[in-house]
Amino acid sequence: MRIKSKLVILFSIIIVSTVVATSIIAFKSLESAVIDSQIKEMTDQVQTKANLINDLHYRAAQDLLFSVKNPVFVRYFDLRDTVAGNVHDKNKVLQFTPQQRLVKNELDQWIYNFQNRFNVDETCLVDINGQEITRVVLKKVALDKDLSYTEWMTPFFRPSFQNDVDHVYYQRPYVSPDTKRWVFAYTTPIVRSDGYKAAFYHFEMPMKIFQDLVQTTSGRIYVADPSGYLVADSSYKFNQNINSEPFRQSPKDYFPSINTISTSSDFNKALRNVQSNANTDVGHVTYNSNGELHYIVFKKLALFGWILAYEKPYSMMLSGNTNLSSLAITMSIIAGIAIVSGLISVFIISDRISRPIRDFAMKCRNQDVSNLQIINPIGNDKEINQVIYAFNEMIQRVNAIEKQKDEFASMVTHELKSPLTPIIGWCQTLKNPKLIGQLNSKQLNAVDVIQKNAKRLLQLVGDILDVQKLDLNKMKFDSQPVDVDDLLNYMYNNLQNVMAQKNIKQINSTKEQLTVRSDRNRIEQVLNNLILNAVDFVPSETGKIEYGAQSNGEEVLFYVKDNGTGIPLEKQKNLFHKFYQIDTSVTRKHGGSGLGLAISKGIIESLGGKIWIESELGKGASFYFTIPNNRTKTAMSEKVMDVKNTAK
Ligand SMILES: Nc1ncnc2c1ncn2[C@@H]1O[C@H](COP(=O)(O)OP(=O)(O)OP(=O)(O)O)[C@@H](O)[C@H]1O
Ligand SMILES: [Mg+2]
Repeated sequence: MRIKSKLVILFSIIIVSTVVATSIIAFKSLESAVIDSQIKEMTDQVQTKANLINDLHYRAAQDLLFSVKNPVFVRYFDLRDTVAGNVHDKNKVLQFTPQQRLVKNELDQWIYNFQNRFNVDETCLVDINGQEITRVVLKKVALDKDLSYTEWMTPFFRPSFQNDVDHVYYQRPYVSPDTKRWVFAYTTPIVRSDGYKAAFYHFEMPMKIFQDLVQTTSGRIYVADPSGYLVADSSYKFNQNINSEPFRQSPKDYFPSINTISTSSDFNKALRNVQSNANTDVGHVTYNSNGELHYIVFKKLALFGWILAYEKPYSMMLSGNTNLSSLAITMSIIAGIAIVSGLISVFIISDRISRPIRDFAMKCRNQDVSNLQIINPIGNDKEINQVIYAFNEMIQRVNAIEKQKDEFASMVTHELKSPLTPIIGWCQTLKNPKLIGQLNSKQLNAVDVIQKNAKRLLQLVGDILDVQKLDLNKMKFDSQPVDVDDLLNYMYNNLQNVMAQKNIKQINSTKEQLTVRSDRNRIEQVLNNLILNAVDFVPSETGKIEYGAQSNGEEVLFYVKDNGTGIPLEKQKNLFHKFYQIDTSVTRKHGGSGLGLAISKGIIESLGGKIWIESELGKGASFYFTIPNNRTKTAMSEKVMDVKNTAK
């Protein structure tokens, strides 16, 4: 994997994770602060409402006790007529004696006044027989005929007598037979002067009081009874009209079940936690329902084990909090911008870090292996330049070794060439009967083979020597006016024989008279190599080789085009390297040692020109080279100087 990609990936991960983590942490801490403040607000509400409810009970109880302090209660039951027992007519209507009537009037007045002071549905006085002595319902004093004698059936009858003086008994909700409403009751016994509990005094409070108390504008407030129903619920509208039999009404049938809030096991668990919580402090629990967290702030009320709860789902905890939701958006935008700009910077920085390495790699790749050049420092990065210095030191050492090798090879080649000249000369002499005598045909043949191979060897040694000279910059060049037309015509004539062997069509398409100041022999050597290569790669009979020259501004452009096999693009870059041959199989038809193009390149570049190829596989090959005018030796030695300078 590329260093740049690694850096980009690494830094991207760091940036994205840092930004995301920071945003999440920032949001989470803010979120918990908002939720804390919401819980606090809910706690305050629960506390206030719980205080109101507890206060209501307390005041009701206090008022009840205050009310019975009036001696008129005891007086009624101390009356001899009362002690003697109740008298009813045939319709079971209680018959008051005149004394009783007097005291009852006083009682009625007192109770009536009392109900005016307090929000009570019904107030009544019931004796030990279950006979109502007086009753005020919604500020209306009941007539004698309406006084009930079966109050012993009420759920609070027995417990009221079990209660002590100055104690209040609270009755769980029931439907009042008189008001046909759900109420709960407070009772306290009336004790005669002889200590006998003769009656109890009682009043009923409508449950609606709770329902009114739990109303809220956000979330849900409810009062839960330990037996699993809600006696008040801000999200529920109770039907206030009860038509069926009072007392038979079960709270469970009338009040909504606690499950109307949630049926999730999480909620039930939370509720059990609340119920098992013995103290009456405010606490809070959470539960999960439909994938959303719900918060419940609760408090146990003083009566009936009721729990007052205020509940809000997570979304409601945050909604209305514009700061938080807008902050979440702002943070997402900032995080997005930070990530994008971070990634762009990472990309740029990574590119900057890795660019010198890539530049260095490119420079290494572009090196001519036959002429390794010192690489100039890249950028200001110390590390990469240390690598370049080390690399340059290596190049210098390699170049020095190469030079020694070349000098040695040059010397060896030169030595190889010396014996070849007399061998070829003596072969020529042997072939001449006038000089050494007539050889028979077999002997002549052998001498011919020796001479041919010696010439090939001489050619090869000559090529190697050329390469050496070029490498060592020791090749000498002429600088004379070259008549290009003359040169090409001369070559045309010389090549006639070779072309005839494969029946190749040879075309010299030069159209202008050109002269260039350069080295005629070397240009001829290059053209020769290019044309002879083409000869080997064009087909017999249909082969066509076109060559020539044309003026190209300051320089002359030479070309050799053939309709041979062509060279695939990927192989073209190595074509001008020493010993490179495309087909290296033993069965190849093209001979040679792969030095021709390398020498051609060396010569052309030394003459100040350029050489290149344009070809496609199967579509022939076209070689081009340029020869500038006035290319002098001075200019060439400048090039040599350049290389030496950079090598330092
Ligand atoms: N006109 C051409 N068409 C197709 N392939 C060519 C052509 N010219 C050169 N080549 C390929 O390029 C290789 C190198 O050519 P080059 O002249 O350097 O060496 P050579 O001809 O093999 O040997 P030498 O020239 O040293 O005798 C050849 O072996 C051949 O594979
Ligand atoms: Mg060749």
